[in-house]
Amino acid sequence: MRKRVLVTGGAGFIGSHLCEKLLADGDDVLCVDNFFTGTKDNIARLLDNPHFELMRHDVTFPLYVEVDEIYNLACPAAPIHYQYDPVQTTKTSVHGAINMLGLAKRVKAKILQASTSEVYGDPKVHPQREDYWGHVNPIGRRACYDEGKRCAETLFFDYHRQHQLRIKVARIFNTYGPCMHPNDGRVVSNFIVQALAGEPLTIYGDGAQTRSFCYVDDLVDALVRLMATPERFTGPVNLGNPAEFTILELAQKVLALTGSASRLDYQPLPQDDPLQRKPDIALATRHLLWQPRVALDEGLKRTVAYFRAASRAAPSLRVAAYA
Ligand SMILES: NC(=O)c1ccc[n+]([C@@H]2O[C@H](COP(=O)([O-])OP(=O)(O)OC[C@H]3O[C@@H](n4cnc5c(N)ncnc54)[C@H](O)[C@@H]3O)[C@@H](O)[C@H]2O)c1
Repeated sequence: MRKRVLVTGGAGFIGSHLCEKLLADGDDVLCVDNFFTGTKDNIARLLDNPHFELMRHDVTFPLYVEVDEIYNLACPAAPIHYQYDPVQTTKTSVHGAINMLGLAKRVKAKILQASTSEVYGDPKVHPQREDYWGHVNPIGRRACYDEGKRCAETLFFDYHRQHQLRIKVARIFNTYGPCMHPNDGRVVSNFIVQALAGEPLTIYGDGAQTRSFCYVDDLVDALVRLMATPERFTGPVNLGNPAEFTILELAQKVLALTGSASRLDYQPLPQDDPLQRKPDIALATRHLLWQPRVALDEGLKRTVAYFRAASRAAPSLRVAAYA
């Protein structure tokens, strides 16, 4: 029997890779998306598969379908996207969670929430473990996303306690790879697109702030493993790559891989931008028997190849990315 799996936000960056992996594993996949940041191009390669179904739907409205498992990924993830309509961002996280949890309750499905390292805010503890409660500014410009995701986690655990729902909560750290939005302002895609266009690479602050970058295949592998864990394991569990790099190191790697002569353009650090972000993945290693395998150089190579091909297919990508 094939499992019927719903992926909300399935036409987005991570969602499209997840749909592909689930199909490869032999599942029936229903991809639900309102195409706010996702695109049909991301899932074009899946449309001919008879086990793949696409539905345009906004998760802030109830959904009635029969499924066995739900991956709830619907939510813009990049600051320029989630700050574009902050009220809608909170609604997507909170109403979206309520609607998907309601669906899971009705059809007795197992449900996984794509939460985020942003629930830790600007952390005072490094690396962040799951028992750290975070340091979030509740009224800042990032709050619509951070607090929306925190509230979604609360809802997941209340549905679990109150209605015995089978839940899994993944706290995803910076993930990158092919199908990232080319002009979403996220550092990996920004640097690659700028380098390929020969434009200056924008560095916020002095570039000494660190980030950890997880390649999308590793992340998707972890999500599927998490869904398959025994019922008593709910998370929250950190998923990311703990290898830490400064933004400046990342810029240098991108310049080397693209062969670009772009210069570095230093800009002021945005408000509430964390100075360090690094997951402690001991829990994931223990419960999922998982560790990221794709090193940054290799992942960047594959991502550069994707953006190189994309910019050849759509030369306007350059202008949009730099604007
Ligand atoms: N990429 C990362 O580094 C990262 C890090 C932490 C958490 N996450 C989480 O993972 C999930 C996927 O992120 P991503 O990087 O693929 O982002 P993305 O923007 O590429 O994907 C989000 C998808 O959700 C869809 N969507 C947005 N609002 C919707 C709504 N109301 N109804 C239906 N669909 C809607 C978008 O159209 C898009 O396809 C998000 O929930 C995000 O918060 C991502």
